[in-house]
Amino acid sequence: MAVKAMQFSAAEVAYADKFIKHVGGIKVPESRVYESSSAEGRALSEILSTAKVDSERRAGELKSQTEKAAHYVVMEVVQAMPLSKSVRDLDYLTALARDETSMQEVGRLIAMDSFLGSADRLVFRDYSEHPADRLDPINLDNIMHSPERGIVAIDNEFLPVDESASISDSPNVQYLSALGNKDEVDLLAYSFLSRLERQYRRANGISPEQRIETLASSLGEAHNNVVDGIYAGLSKIAADAVGVESNLAQAQLSQFPRSAAGNWSLGDVARYANLRFSGIDVSREPSLSHEAALVRLAATPGQQVSAARVHADDTNQQVAAAAAHLIPSGAPYSMRQGPQAAPSAKPSGPYRTHAAPRGRGRHA
Ligand SMILES: Nc1ncnc2c1ncn2[C@@H]1O[C@H](COP(=O)(O)OP(=O)(O)O)[C@@H](O)[C@H]1O
Ligand SMILES: [Mg+2]
Repeated sequence: MAVKAMQFSAAEVAYADKFIKHVGGIKVPESRVYESSSAEGRALSEILSTAKVDSERRAGELKSQTEKAAHYVVMEVVQAMPLSKSVRDLDYLTALARDETSMQEVGRLIAMDSFLGSADRLVFRDYSEHPADRLDPINLDNIMHSPERGIVAIDNEFLPVDESASISDSPNVQYLSALGNKDEVDLLAYSFLSRLERQYRRANGISPEQRIETLASSLGEAHNNVVDGIYAGLSKIAADAVGVESNLAQAQLSQFPRSAAGNWSLGDVARYANLRFSGIDVSREPSLSHEAALVRLAATPGQQVSAARVHADDTNQQVAAAAAHLIPSGAPYSMRQGPQAAPSAKPSGPYRTHAAPRGRGRHA
């Protein structure tokens, strides 16, 4: 059994777990949540506050976490290793990269994290930055893997945005929107795969200049599978958006008063995904531009997705006015579509030794 003390609400974690499992089709740990004031929670506090640990990141970490805990998440122990550790081995790394299923799962996880507004694993935190200047988003600790179990997503996050933000400002929509740009999709796949390579090189003291043929070719093969996974994830979100709203999103909404009290909801994010990404064609273009999806979202009867409320009988002019509220004037890089889109800092592959984009993130 694994126990995690949570300082803040555990509802978001439970929601992210469910979404990733049911919509993404990716394994997550089975878990239960106990409030620290419950009988189970008090028993856990007692055990943890007197437990002896020898692997704390900071002395007294467990004690302080236990004191601050609002909930405990009790999980199954995942019989797998975080990718940060397992890819130190070249055979393991090349086998992983060549495993189509695992690489497609990573791609689907990129799409799920985007919908959820989660930026502690695979998705950039700030799409307004030029790609070359973005922080390395990759946290390999939050992806577990074993050859038997495949990919298991842990430490899952959901970010319900507070009511002050407009839907277009929400990270959920910004991250999803970014995936409407093929360059961004390639960049995310590239960031993950080149991060695996760097992890391996660093652990083994191998210089970036030394070319490793099997590694370069296996990562090159993996790229398309990750990209395919991203598109599969997007169309799954788009296809499930309405269903998800009634089953997952609607049922969970009551748990997130911050977004429920706002002028837009999780259902609106789902509808945005549906408008934007349903019917993605083989050329891998989303069916609608970001702007057009926002305009249609604002025009949907009964929606209250911006300060300018739009109703069914609104004229086109009012729809346009509402859209003007939704689309920020200084649209971030990722929202530029088509011919004006700036090229990303790095093309997809080939995976060369020193090919990583300038990363200066936590894990770089
Ligand atoms: N259910 C689990 N089974 C096995 N190991 C786990 C489990 N949950 C977490 N871990 C291990 O603990 C590490 C930290 O857990 P995580 O939930 O990511 O916490 P944090 O919020 O501190 O990043 C993970 O990288 C993983 O190695
Ligand atoms: Mg973690």
